[in-house]
Amino acid sequence: MLMLGIESSCDETAAALVCDATKIEHRILSNIVLSQDKEHRPFGGVVPEIAARAHLKHMDDLIMSAMTTADVSFDEIDGIAATGGPGLIGGVIVGIMSAKAIASVKKKPFIAINHLEGHALTARLTSNIRFPYLLLLVSGGHCQLLIVEGIGQYKRLGTTVDDALGEAFDKCAKMMGLGYPGGPKVEAAAKAGDGKRFDLPRPMRGREGCHFSFSGLKSAVRRQIEKLGNDGMSSQDIADLCASFQQAAGDILIDRCKNGLNQFKSIYPAGNTLVVAGGVAANKSIGERLAELKHTENIQLVIPPTKLCTDNAAMIAWAGIEQLKSGHTSSLDFKPRPRWPLDPNAPAAIGAGVKA
Ligand code: KG4
Ligand code: ZN
Repeated sequence: MLMLGIESSCDETAAALVCDATKIEHRILSNIVLSQDKEHRPFGGVVPEIAARAHLKHMDDLIMSAMTTADVSFDEIDGIAATGGPGLIGGVIVGIMSAKAIASVKKKPFIAINHLEGHALTARLTSNIRFPYLLLLVSGGHCQLLIVEGIGQYKRLGTTVDDALGEAFDKCAKMMGLGYPGGPKVEAAAKAGDGKRFDLPRPMRGREGCHFSFSGLKSAVRRQIEKLGNDGMSSQDIADLCASFQQAAGDILIDRCKNGLNQFKSIYPAGNTLVVAGGVAANKSIGERLAELKHTENIQLVIPPTKLCTDNAAMIAWAGIEQLKSGHTSSLDFKPRPRWPLDPNAPAAIGAGVKA
């Protein structure tokens, strides 16, 4: 099965061709990602209107270059999958309309993909893991622990009651003047830092359940910056603060994952796989910290390659393959969904501004 995937829910315009070859290394035929970092950098974050226009400007060329790189024609593909949400509505409309147009002209199945499901299933594209598994989804907009029971079957164990972890990385980077996107900048700066220098809080650590909170950690970083004096921060101060932030984030994730694994194993006693997905999963230091769980909790840890942790279209094409194989397609009437929870039945977390 050969699938064209399209991603445009945030600040990456992406197109990819993916097949279901048995050999993992033969699956991705092309995977093209055009980042809009340069367009958004002056504003220190993603500007929805600029993002939508950039997707519109580049989408057609990107799809064509994904097709050319893979050396396939539209007649050869088995379907077109595009992110249908959650995300910035302008960008999602661009991707969905492009996919619908190709699907209707070429009379191929169209599959609207939940962006979070794209992240959730990436580990099955890059390694042969089976359902069920526990998923730590850590991106710019989401921070959740879910049990992935099957295609379209998710049980959410916990979510953030305030900021997502990627968002906290981005905001801390902005406060320290490191620029956008913040996650990779904080990771790079932290390499030269001492993670024990600043005593930052670990919100939610030790609490029951699987919810997250990062706004207290972010505020503590802000207070520390104010104490050091914005202009007076040396590069060593910045490195130490980044490393201390990362250390705190790692401690929180380990604590929450332990609770998640206990809940997972109480439902699926044979379950022993933890998958980490989303942009923050690209952070090597966080990955190394989470690797501690392999020994303490006796599990296997799966983190997809960096390029497939951050937003891309190969994950959307793969989710399209999984959906189509299980008999699911979308109608050409599909309406983009700016909000689209993976587990619509999950109870709301207690706290202000809960993210779905
Ligand atoms: O999954 P993603 O590409 O987009 C969303 O769906 O949100 O995640 C983007 C987020 C951003 O907040 C970015 O700063 C963060 O992932 N991120 C990282 C790293 N690379 C990307 N955070 C920490 N360390 C990284 N190396
Ligand atoms: Zn994402």
